[in-house]
Amino acid sequence: MQKKFVALRFAVLMAISMVAIVSGGSRQTVNEASVFSVHVPRVWDDADMADVELPLADPIATPKHISAEYYYRIPVRPIYKSYPVYALGREPQGYQEWLSQQEPETLLDPWKIKDAGDLIRAGEIVFDAPIFYNAVVKPPLIKDPTWYENTGVLVAKDGTLPYFKYVIREKGRVEIGTVSCGMCHTRLMADGTVIKGAQGNFPFDRAAIFNAAQSLPPERVRLLQRSLFGAPWVKPDPQAGLDQIPVAEIAQWHAAIPPGVLARQGSSVHSPAQIPDLIGVKERMYLDHSGLVRHRSVVDMMRYSALNQGADDLASYGGFIPGARDFRTLPREGAIAMNSSMRSRFISTPCGRRPIQTSLMVLPFAAKASSSNRGVEAATRPRSTPITG
Ligand code: HEC
Repeated sequence: MQKKFVALRFAVLMAISMVAIVSGGSRQTVNEASVFSVHVPRVWDDADMADVELPLADPIATPKHISAEYYYRIPVRPIYKSYPVYALGREPQGYQEWLSQQEPETLLDPWKIKDAGDLIRAGEIVFDAPIFYNAVVKPPLIKDPTWYENTGVLVAKDGTLPYFKYVIREKGRVEIGTVSCGMCHTRLMADGTVIKGAQGNFPFDRAAIFNAAQSLPPERVRLLQRSLFGAPWVKPDPQAGLDQIPVAEIAQWHAAIPPGVLARQGSSVHSPAQIPDLIGVKERMYLDHSGLVRHRSVVDMMRYSALNQGADDLASYGGFIPGARDFRTLPREGAIAMNSSMRSRFISTPCGRRPIQTSLMVLPFAAKASSSNRGVEAATRPRSTPITG
């Protein structure tokens, strides 16, 4: 088993690193006419992780990230073959029966990557790879008309919900794989066309709270709020009194967040972040609306991605660890921590400094590529700014 994990991590790292090479993000160059060579950059380097983020306004809470030793013991998730999810009334007849007959199949065999084209396809696979199953969205919701009314989710021209996919991890069990990069960074246009990498517009908060209010006990909903948005070093504590707030009220906060904006971990449900486009991200030296994350090289993009797939929940913000059960004690690696995001695959990603030329060049962005199309700039992190709420 351990061996398998090692191989899989290698697979992903390899795909990404090759993106780095093709993109020119690495020192090595590719001579496509001859050998397609690979250099795997080291993602989790303690010295580089120490200053990948700028210090916070209150430096006491500047995140101290997990060590490389810890990071490299975390198991890597496999990427399974996935299948389109059709909206209510748009599914071909017999589709579910057909799905239930499919065998599990993993993707991304590094040995099959022979050239830049394979690499680009591998990048897209990683971009679309889910890290959770039946979380935020699960099969019964897709059949529930009130889910559509409450979330206002758009449906693509071909009848699919392109933000997530069905995944078969075990024959006969059809799950929805969620929280891929693509779930948030895919835009469905009014005419039903899909643009990967543009400002995402899945109604994430509405869907998440619709699901959570149905399936989680109130204390867990509050724990999640603490894990996602807690900033106990800010005085007064923006979350003081949370235990007394009815879950219905918390649900209203989330339901008020429109598609394209997200109460992401580290922001606040009262000042959520706009989902930026990734088109042109290569030109941006500092990431996020807070501008806190440095983008010195393609490897920083890999670090950014790992951080945002759960690794930042394991950092210590002046002793506060958002992903720890008690918010203080780092879980053992591979353990399922409180909000389960600790089981994240911690992948590196295909979105390098030159995504248009590389992993995403299969996508029709080039003409619209712009690094200035950032939309709302107001959202800031309570972790960086002493705001309340
Ligand atoms: C749950 C939704 C969600 C998922 C999943 C997600 N992102 Fe994001 N992404 C966001 C939001 C929201 C922001 C803006 C955060 C901020 O400004 O603080 C963002 C910002 C970014 C940025 C910064 C862009 C800029 O110009 O500052 C990059 C790069 C990025 N995401 C890449 C990725 C990649 C790669 C993945 C998959 C590994 C991913 N994202 C998964 C929601 C998501």
